[in-house]
Amino acid sequence: MAIIVLNFKTYRESTGIEALRLAEICEDISREYSVQMVVVPQVADIHAISSAVNIPVYAQHVDGVGFGGFTGHVTAASLKAAGAAGSLINHSERRLKLAEIEASITACRSFGLKTIVCTNNVATTRSAAALEPDFVAVEPPELIGSGIPVSKANPEVIRGSVAAVKDIAPKVAVLCGAGITHGEDLRSAIELGSEGVLLASGIIKAADPRKALEDLVSGVLK
Ligand code: G3P
Repeated sequence: MAIIVLNFKTYRESTGIEALRLAEICEDISREYSVQMVVVPQVADIHAISSAVNIPVYAQHVDGVGFGGFTGHVTAASLKAAGAAGSLINHSERRLKLAEIEASITACRSFGLKTIVCTNNVATTRSAAALEPDFVAVEPPELIGSGIPVSKANPEVIRGSVAAVKDIAPKVAVLCGAGITHGEDLRSAIELGSEGVLLASGIIKAADPRKALEDLVSGVLK
């Protein structure tokens, strides 16, 4: 089953009450079609959303710090308590150092949270896979928000990432993202060997996000 991870970022259309509405639409899509939707709202919206929907809610970022004298951090413990099921780590818009990525993965593991480590090319996918997160999501930064799908503009980065992960840590699943919007984008992403996509603007900025999601999932319906 294809996995669709919708990053809400900090768009106005996916903040607060709008985030909740969008998550409910994603839940409907998950129920009506054979796809697994994961929603990734801002931290302050996680609890309200996880209490209202029955699809996994992930955070956009998590710090590898524990309980104690830290200020302004996002802990795995607080995410778990808020009802999150996982977190993105090292998103292109929230880059971390290698040691911090490892600490974030370790923190998530100790609270039973899934991890999606974002990468920007095959070389970083290789390093991320060695840390054995649940997923690696490869996204060339220059295509993010461009509407030009990575599956068309740079299929090699997907093929190369899939091959690298298979070699290093075959249990790690590969996602891809950047510019993914339509059914054909999702279909080619899957054909190139990824398990699903990580996307944002094509759905969140659409005039009708439900229709946009229906278009997207049409790419994997028999
Ligand atoms: O996290 C998803 C993202 O960075 C891709 O963004 O707007 O190109 O789908 P977008």
